[in-house]
Amino acid sequence: MFSQASASLTNDIRLRDVTEGDLPIFFEHQCDPDANQMAAFPPRDRDAFMAHWAKISSDESATNRTILCDGHVAGNVVSWERDGKRFVGYWIGKNYWGRGVATRALSLFLPVVKARPLYAYVAKRNVGSIRVLEKCGFTICREETESLEPPADGVEEVVFRLGPNEGAEAR
Ligand SMILES: CC(C)(COP(=O)(O)OP(=O)(O)OC[C@H]1O[C@@H](n2cnc3c(N)ncnc32)[C@H](O)[C@@H]1OP(=O)(O)O)[C@@H](O)C(=O)NCCC(=O)NCCS
Repeated sequence: MFSQASASLTNDIRLRDVTEGDLPIFFEHQCDPDANQMAAFPPRDRDAFMAHWAKISSDESATNRTILCDGHVAGNVVSWERDGKRFVGYWIGKNYWGRGVATRALSLFLPVVKARPLYAYVAKRNVGSIRVLEKCGFTICREETESLEPPADGVEEVVFRLGPNEGAEAR
């Protein structure tokens, strides 16, 4: 599944706007059982998936990008706003894991989404995603993590933050 040895491979990673034609590829990526297990996120069926992307594509507060690896669609990185907070998320197709794609893609995305603080929710067991966030400068946000409801599904989450705490500049 994941090869440490391949993490040092260098590929040409770019971001571009999401096109209609990318969605079936994203759909396949999010159907992968290993990815679902890793992200602690169940797959959506095709209709629900397309409806979700229709919604986030028309959300003016959202910023969504397709990740290209050597010109091929390797995944997506997205940002949205909820309850006055800005979040980031990403999903890489399994064929592209372990090549530094997520780290490079998130690094390229951070200057695009300039709002700070920027939050990411991640399953505690998702060590790969936690490492991606840490490599991009995110740190664990203890106050947000402690305020999470106990997980009904048993999957514990942690919250990471990039940038100063809300209101910190005003104090
Ligand atoms: C988690 C995920 C984003 C990682 O993407 P990736 O492109 O393979 O990550 P990178 O190659 O940039 O790896 C970054 C670091 O994480 C480590 N890493 C990545 N996956 C790992 C894994 N499964 N186990 C252990 N370490 C892992 C790498 O070794 C690297 O660390 P290093 O530079 O210290 O060696 C990808 O597996 C994925 O999309 N999974 C399914 C969806 C998901 O979990 N999305 C995030 C939800 S919060």
